[in-house]
Amino acid sequence: MAHRDNEVSEIVRLLESGKSIQMLAPRRVGKTWLMRDVERQLAPHGWLTIFCDVEGMGSEDEFLRDLCRKIEDAGTVKLRVLEQIKHRLGQLMSATFEGNLANAIGRVDVKQFSDALVGSLHDNHPKVLILVDEISLLVSALIAKSPESAKAFLYHLRKLNQSYPNVRWLLTGSIGLDVVARRWELGGALLDLAIFPLEPFSAKEARAYIDALCAERRVRWHFVLDDPSFDHLAEQLGWLSPYYLDMIADRINVQTQDAGGVAVPTKADIDRAFEELLGPSYRNYFAAWEEHLNKNFPKPESELLYAILDCCCVRPDGETEATILASVGRNYPSLSRRNLMNLLSALVHDGFVAEVGDRWRFRSGLLRRYWMKYICT
Ligand SMILES: Nc1ncnc2c1ncn2[C@@H]1O[C@H](COP(=O)(O)OP(=O)(O)OP(=O)(O)O)[C@@H](O)[C@H]1O
Ligand SMILES: [Mg+2]
Repeated sequence: MAHRDNEVSEIVRLLESGKSIQMLAPRRVGKTWLMRDVERQLAPHGWLTIFCDVEGMGSEDEFLRDLCRKIEDAGTVKLRVLEQIKHRLGQLMSATFEGNLANAIGRVDVKQFSDALVGSLHDNHPKVLILVDEISLLVSALIAKSPESAKAFLYHLRKLNQSYPNVRWLLTGSIGLDVVARRWELGGALLDLAIFPLEPFSAKEARAYIDALCAERRVRWHFVLDDPSFDHLAEQLGWLSPYYLDMIADRINVQTQDAGGVAVPTKADIDRAFEELLGPSYRNYFAAWEEHLNKNFPKPESELLYAILDCCCVRPDGETEATILASVGRNYPSLSRRNLMNLLSALVHDGFVAEVGDRWRFRSGLLRRYWMKYICT
């Protein structure tokens, strides 16, 4: 499989130097996979790692419950850590505390509870990493109930990070925590976190990834890429994320084998795979992109983003800022240049477009074609 060696070593370097991290990346680039890999790599070096996926959770209590369960899992932490946590909880309740840690939830203030939990980990273990996946969904759920409680949650996390430096945090999610925080003016709570942007695969990693898919027979029809066929695929796709590499690889059906009986795809075989993916049956594979705009940006911002993308999708090399401003400005005369730059930054951040030279172009050739076919008005 495509090992993210450089990424893992940079994350490990940051953690070893005492930093906590927020990992920023658009959808389906491999954030969760990388978190799991970081856990695997840290284990032999004396790190205690605790992984929590908080998708679907709606309260701090639920998060703490999950954290407790992970801490109690056989072998996760030493008995003395558990004893210390229970002792601290007992002090908070002015009673002897017995049973599962989660029993104290509801009886002790949640902030004091997490202090006891994280403080005990800090006291007993020099290197702990708590990995929280989909944290922005939890923060959004808290905001929906009360923006104040979301703010208190994030600032408390910051305090835990400052007070207990042996416990580091690695936070990520399929929507950017930074975007959610900026919208609600909670950015200050994230100031202590090192930012780690995760990019899609390099050409070398993408090639290794597809080669592994083929070698392990994880594609529908067997094929072997040579340099020209890989280059053509990479150029057409543009955005080398595992998600789309998987999709294309699964649809490459070589029509004629070479003289030695090896199935090397021609350009036409690869182009057919792209055409097939752009057919109506597979529309759902692209649903996350529209969903992202609809869910995370209020109107009229979302409408403006659609209009900008409509403009950028026409040519593979995209459009200049002046043309976008003129074109979108026809329907939205109040759009200022500054406003446009903010919107373009959001689209860059979320993986839709990239700034190349003086033009803004779709990062994924496949998504560009999808946009032209189904969305562009
Ligand atoms: N380095 C890698 N090597 C092999 N497979 C990978 C790698 N990175 C990601 N994948 C695979 O690609 C798919 C998408 O990865 P993953 O779920 O980690 O992305 P994500 O960024 O967390 O997505 P989302 O935004 O939906 O949360 C998964 O099937 C995963 O197993
Ligand atoms: Mg994920």
